[in-house]
Order: sequence, then C-alpha cells, then structure tokens
Amino acid sequence: MTTIESTHTVEEFLGRVASDAATTFHAATVLLGDKLGLYKALAEAPATPGELADRTGTDARYVQEWGHAQVAAGYCGLDAATGRLFLDEAQATVLADENSPAFAASFMTLAGVLFKDEERIAREAVRTGTGVEWCEHHPDLCTGTERLFKPGYVANLVSSWIPALDGVQDALIAGVKVADVGCGHGASTLVLARAYPNSTVVGFDYDAASIEVARTRAAEQGLADRVRFEVATAADFPGDSYGLVCVFDALHDMGDPLGAAAHICTSLAPGGTFLVVEPMAGETVFDNVNAVGKLFYSAGLFLCLPTAKAQGGRFQLGPQVPESTWRELLLEAGFGSFRRAAETPFNRVFEAKPRRSTAEVL
Ligand SMILES: C[S@@+](CC[C@H](N)C(=O)[O-])C[C@H]1O[C@@H](n2cnc3c(N)ncnc32)[C@H](O)[C@@H]1O
Repeated sequence: MTTIESTHTVEEFLGRVASDAATTFHAATVLLGDKLGLYKALAEAPATPGELADRTGTDARYVQEWGHAQVAAGYCGLDAATGRLFLDEAQATVLADENSPAFAASFMTLAGVLFKDEERIAREAVRTGTGVEWCEHHPDLCTGTERLFKPGYVANLVSSWIPALDGVQDALIAGVKVADVGCGHGASTLVLARAYPNSTVVGFDYDAASIEVARTRAAEQGLADRVRFEVATAADFPGDSYGLVCVFDALHDMGDPLGAAAHICTSLAPGGTFLVVEPMAGETVFDNVNAVGKLFYSAGLFLCLPTAKAQGGRFQLGPQVPESTWRELLLEAGFGSFRRAAETPFNRVFEAKPRRSTAEVL
C-alpha cells in the first residue's frame, strides 16, 4: 500500500478543479449535440450554424453557441473563411459514428444520468443507506449503457474475448446452449446470436422493460428466430446444461453475486464455461488512481452501489472489484478454476469453469 500525498499548491489545484469544471460543463453540450443529431449532421457535411440549424430542425442562435463551445473544447473545427463548423475524421468517428468501436458520445449520456439522479441519490440513498433499483434510475441509464457498451462488444467479443477462452469458440460454432445473464438491452446477446447460428442463445434480465427493448432489438436486426429474451434474476434463471453462461458488466451490480455465481455454476453443462466481463480495476484504490478509476468509482456511487443495495443481499461491491475478490467469490460459488483470459483498457475478461466431479476426473 502507498499513501498518496498532496504535492501541489492551491493555485495548481484550483487550476485542475477549474479545468475539470469546464470539462463537466462542456459534457452537457456533448449530450445535447448527440441527442439533437448535431454531430451526425456535421459529419455529413460542414455547416454554418444557420445551415446546421436548418438541417437538424433547431434554432440558429443556440446552435451558434453550441458550435463555439465545440470549437473552444477542440471537439470541432471552424473555417474562418466560410464560417462553417466541421468535424475531422477522428472527431466524426468518436462523436458521430455509432457503428465504430471508438464511438464515445454515449459516455455523456451516462454522465448525464449521474446529474439527473443526483438529488435523489443524495437524499434517499447516501443519507439513509437505502438502494435504488436499476430500473428506477433515470430512463437514459438503459439506453446510455447499451450505446456505451455495444461498440466494445461488437469490436471484441467474437474477435478476441471468445477465442481467449478455453475451447469455447469451437463449442459455439458446433452449437451449445448460451445464457447471457443481466443482458440489459441485449447488445452482447445479439452479437453472440449473430456470430454463432448453431448455438441457442437466451438473454435474461430482472428488468422487464429492458427485456422488452431487447426483444425489439432482436426483431429489428432480423435475429428474433435465433435468440430469446426472458425476465429472470441471475439467481433463478431457468434452464440447465448451458455450454456458456456470460455476465457482462452486471455481476458487481447484484446484491448477491455469490448466489448468482452458485446458480450459474450448477446451470452449466460438464466442461461448460462462465464468462464474466467486469470493469478494469487494480487490487486497491491506490492502483486505481487514474481516469478509469475516477470514472468507475463515480459511476459506482450513483449507479452500481444503489442497485446492489436495493437487492438486499450482503454484497455492495461497486465496479472496482479486485481480481482476488472475484477469484475467492467464484471458487466459493463452486467453480474449480478462474483466470483472467483477456482485457481492454476498460474491461477485464474472466473465465471460470466448474469443479470437475470425481466421475469426470476418472
Ligand atoms: C450495467 S448493466 C449491463 C447490461 C448488459 N449486460 C450490457 O453489458 O449492456 C447491468 C444489468 O444487470 C441487470 N441486473 C442487475 N441485477 C440483476 C440481477 N440480480 N439479476 C438479473 N439482472 C440483473 C440490470 O437490470 C442491468 O440490465
């Protein structure tokens, strides 16, 4: 362990807080530009504020102020000769291309949820220690989560996470039963269903509204005949003999992740695999003194802890769970092996396999 000491002057620290405040203020303009389609319209063609307002059905004076905020923040360029705002390739990819793995405007949707929920979390949760269910947060939470995580699943799940697991890719290609637990709007479930047509994929979530949206997404993507979505908790979802059970960024949100993991362990076929994707984190808070830790501890306070507390279990893990804690918890739940199979800057990908019975070993 290392004590973190302050080594800055008041002026230096004030400058840092002021800079953070500017970024926070600007985040609201990113949310607005994303919501009103301003970035997408600019990605199609440069525009003066008036032209952009015409194209997006908005007011020119407000759009001018928005555009100047983007220019001041380096989120778009301004051609002095024509007065047109424009996005360069990187800006267009990150702010306007929902199909790119680098799409990140959705970060601000989730950041907005923290502010929209702040009064309630302060008044009802932090003061009293009570919880707030996932579905009781601001409605932007579910769509924001889907938009933020989907590009990562599209980019990584089939190309690198599944191949990093022992024997899972071949099993999926041949055809096995797959459960995606805590599936939300089904972004990861649909990636799996599309990639492995011989496998039977089902998504479970305890939030009925999320399951409805997931069913709609499946129909929109022409996958409704390959995938099912059902309302169930992680501790009681139906079915057995699954070749793969996945939990993407949801195990730490549960009040009883141990009970969920134990149920998952018994639902697996012999030789089956539990895939757990969790936010990147080190072993202690001292290892998490970085942008990723700052982001996830903040999300944990407003989103993950209240969800876990509302479920009434004995765990309130938050998103920065040390790997050693996951290992201990999964071994206690009945798994016999546990390892980190892959990672990205934001995710750790864990593989766990049930303990083999004496009959299997012999
Ligand atoms: C951060 S979201 C992740 C959603 C989805 N896996 C994804 O990656 O896009 C967490 C999800 O876990 C679900 N969840 C939380 N506790 C649950 C429980 N005990 N049983 C089933 N689902 C749960 C929530 O409803 C929410 O959809």
